[in-house]
Amino acid sequence: PSRPLIDRFGRRISYLRISVTDRCDFRCVYCMAEDMTFLPKKEVLSFEEIEAIAGAFIARGTTKIRLTGGEPLVRRDIMDLVRSLGARIGSGLDELTITTNGSQLARHADGLFAAGVRRINVSLDTLDADRFAAITRRGRIADVLAGIAAAQAAGLAIKINMVAMRGLNEDEIEPMMAWAHAGGMGLTLIEGMPLGEVGMDRVDAYLPLRELHDRLARRYTLTRLDKRTGGPARYVHVAETGGTLGFITPMSHNFCESCNRVRLTATGQLFLCLGQDDQVNLRDAWRDGGPAALDAALDHAMLIKPKGHDFVLDRTRPEPAVARHMSVTGG
Ligand code: GTP
Ligand code: 5AD
Ligand code: SF4
Repeated sequence: PSRPLIDRFGRRISYLRISVTDRCDFRCVYCMAEDMTFLPKKEVLSFEEIEAIAGAFIARGTTKIRLTGGEPLVRRDIMDLVRSLGARIGSGLDELTITTNGSQLARHADGLFAAGVRRINVSLDTLDADRFAAITRRGRIADVLAGIAAAQAAGLAIKINMVAMRGLNEDEIEPMMAWAHAGGMGLTLIEGMPLGEVGMDRVDAYLPLRELHDRLARRYTLTRLDKRTGGPARYVHVAETGGTLGFITPMSHNFCESCNRVRLTATGQLFLCLGQDDQVNLRDAWRDGGPAALDAALDHAMLIKPKGHDFVLDRTRPEPAVARHMSVTGG
């Protein structure tokens, strides 16, 4: 690209995460409160606006786009957007992918593959049906498992994302790994982050992954991989299962120095860090000033992208580090 996006710290931004909706058909206990107020639908960007913004990013060197939410597959006609963005693969864009809870995956799997998607991340924190119902509050595990099976049949590679929580699913880490690896899928463990009021005790549930890694290293042969997907995970190969295990450690190890991404919300705010409030309003830039204003807004974004997040979990400070929920910023 003629003018790549490079921030004040020399980080090249090449990965755009697009939250297409803040809504979701689940209410995972660590992500949302039972009772959530969602954005009015009239505030949400149209697909034309998302395409224009994505196009501006691709012109400035974005090679990877991930659709997130909320749950991206609950947005009406979402496959129209997947197809139009998929058409850009090969001309600037290398990868279009999605992070989904899997509830609607069974009916969209073939369409995703046909649009050019090759790899997806599915969030799944347990294999136990009752526990799944308790964690997601309204999900049915059978739907997700059917979605995963359909995605595999469609030819999509799958990585399972599991938020590892003390007392909630810690005992399932090894069974989940065995299951995922036996099915040819990767498993990535995530430390819970203090984003938004959810009514759960995040201090109690916090499971430092460094500790877990060391525990697993005594039972399995773990070999550090250099594999880089452009995301923040660090990966190991597990000799006993033949699969890949990832660790995303925003709490215990900060990976911000190699950050390559920014996040577009469903209403067109560009958040420059998951854990900070710095943002640029791309919707207004585009609506009021067209391509030139959008381009200038991207330049401005590079000047205000913060150095990193500084999440703290502290019982004496019970309010979340960041007031907005993950479902607003898009994971
Ligand atoms: P890959 O392309 O598979 O590497 O995906 P990814 O890890 O970039 O995407 P995914 O949607 O699977 O992200 C998993 C989780 O990692 C997110 O939901 C967040 O919890 C966390 N995460 C991703 N990027 C960041 C980041 O920049 N900062 C922080 N704190 N967490 C992040
Ligand atoms: N901390 C860590 N991960 C979270 N997710 C949602 N909320 C949080 C949180 N507060 C995870 C989901 C999904 C991904 C998009 O983000 O489980 O895997
Ligand atoms: Fe929905 Fe994902 Fe949040 Fe669960 S973690 S409520 S599936 S957005």
